[in-house]
Amino acid sequence: MAKINLKLLKKEAQKEIKKTRDLKGLNEVFNKYLGKKGELSLILRSLKKLPKLRRAKIGSEVNELKDFLKIKFEQKAEEIKEKIKQKIEEKEWIDITAPGRKPALGHLHPLTLVKRKVEEIFQSMGFTVIEGPEIETEWYNFDALNIPKDHPARDILSLGKTLYLKAGGLMRSHTSSVQIRYMEKNNPPFRIVVPGRIFRQESTDSSHEINFYQLEGLMVDKNISVANFKAIIEEFFRRFFGKDTKIRLRPSYFPFVEPGLEVDLICLSCQGKGCSVCSQTGWLEMLGAGMVHPNVFKSAGYNPKFWQGFAFGMGLDRLTMMKYKINDIRLFYSGDLRFLNQF
Ligand code: PHE
Repeated sequence: MAKINLKLLKKEAQKEIKKTRDLKGLNEVFNKYLGKKGELSLILRSLKKLPKLRRAKIGSEVNELKDFLKIKFEQKAEEIKEKIKQKIEEKEWIDITAPGRKPALGHLHPLTLVKRKVEEIFQSMGFTVIEGPEIETEWYNFDALNIPKDHPARDILSLGKTLYLKAGGLMRSHTSSVQIRYMEKNNPPFRIVVPGRIFRQESTDSSHEINFYQLEGLMVDKNISVANFKAIIEEFFRRFFGKDTKIRLRPSYFPFVEPGLEVDLICLSCQGKGCSVCSQTGWLEMLGAGMVHPNVFKSAGYNPKFWQGFAFGMGLDRLTMMKYKINDIRLFYSGDLRFLNQF
């Protein structure tokens, strides 16, 4: 039999007892030393082979050690129980004077903030806010707006940017479709703005997305001219950016207006001198507009001899990017909280 080193055993058992953190662990250590098949029991059993005198001596030493360790185990068990009790008490203790934890509140998306601001400005100038469906028919999105069947925007293949649906219909490619929907059901005179999401087949980059937001405007009355449009859009920019801005009108073409024009805003970064924001031109393209085409009035059932009006379509994403100096449109749709939490 190997030499029995009770001193070492005692030392190790004590070390292990000390290290345990819970009752389960303590039980394991107990079994290892004092259990039926524990080390001390094994030693006692092996003593049979020894001569009587020696057996008695070692036997009493082992029993002494057993008693000693039992006490150590009991002490440790008490210690652990006491700690558990303390922990429970700590947990249950409530400091009613501590300030409450602030719940994380959601907030409006920057596009919504801008949409609301824009609506508010137009409402104060007598415009009503109207909405229309995102899924459209070719009639409302194209035909009724005087867009011919062979117009490139309608191309189902590579050229066109319209997203057609398998079941028929399409995702509206602009908010102009709501012009017709509104005029079908309402009589002039009126002023409306139509904010809404629109869809296009695009390769995305920092200024292109497969969906974005537009604000359509339509004012119809008996004596409306480009001068009315100019006054309203100038006032809008002044109120939106909160300072004196300058705009210019350029001739342009859209099938649903005649004449058609585009509105540029003087670059807010360089005041028209030319910088990287405006590609050195001093101006920023902001919206398409024009006087409503007689064929559009006819589509809606109005007599173009009596009624005149202007229409415009402006990108809300663009406006938001300018207001908050955001350089990538994709951030709006990324759901990235590092971006969103700044608003
Ligand atoms: N619907 C046009 C576009 O999406 C913008 C526009 C609206 C132009 C109304 C003229 C009048 O580009």
